[in-house]
Amino acid sequence: MSHELKELLDSNRRWASQTQARDPGFFTRLLAQQAPQYLWIGCADSRVPASEILGLLPGDVFVHRNVANVVVPSDLNALSVMQFAIDMLKVRHVIVVGHYGCGGVTAALHDRRIGLADNWIRHVHDVRNKHRTWLDGIEDDTLRLDALCELNVLEQAHNACATTVVQDAWDRGQEVIVHGWVYGLHNGLLEDLRISAGCAAEVAPAYGMALGALKTRFDAIRKKGRP
Ligand code: CO
Repeated sequence: MSHELKELLDSNRRWASQTQARDPGFFTRLLAQQAPQYLWIGCADSRVPASEILGLLPGDVFVHRNVANVVVPSDLNALSVMQFAIDMLKVRHVIVVGHYGCGGVTAALHDRRIGLADNWIRHVHDVRNKHRTWLDGIEDDTLRLDALCELNVLEQAHNACATTVVQDAWDRGQEVIVHGWVYGLHNGLLEDLRISAGCAAEVAPAYGMALGALKTRFDAIRKKGRP
């Protein structure tokens, strides 16, 4: 039995030659430098690949992914990616992207054990606990999960704003905008949760507005039943 993953390497050869045929010099240009405008912080879920969803090419988006798109100030990995992307590559946009039907968020919502990741998902438990009273008012399980997926985006985007990396960039007047989006596995669409903040003073109002809009939207769906 072969251990070579030949199908993947063959697929890569086809992709490289098609890319080169479509745009001669593509790889040579990328060799010179990477100058992405965007840092994507998303879930590790295989169904949410950053560049493909955005219709972008290699070189366009710097990516950090982990289980349930969590941003915590003790995570040296995420902070290192953010610091490199913001300080060195000068990305203008940091986009925290969650998705509906997220396994990590589901586990947090239902206190379901996964394994080692339970410790990581504690951060999503914190989000659930913070909004528990409101979440418990949503009877429909799927709708409550959708709501927690969105709340997790708002909280993690808020956490991204609070990192020293983003705060320092804003202090020196560098243009960095933090966004929070959610992705639908069922339709391939990204939605902006409108928490975008481009300076320290915008963070609290943006969070408040986005949270208010989220709750209004879910309360309306709850009252009239799922569409
Ligand atoms: Co996920």
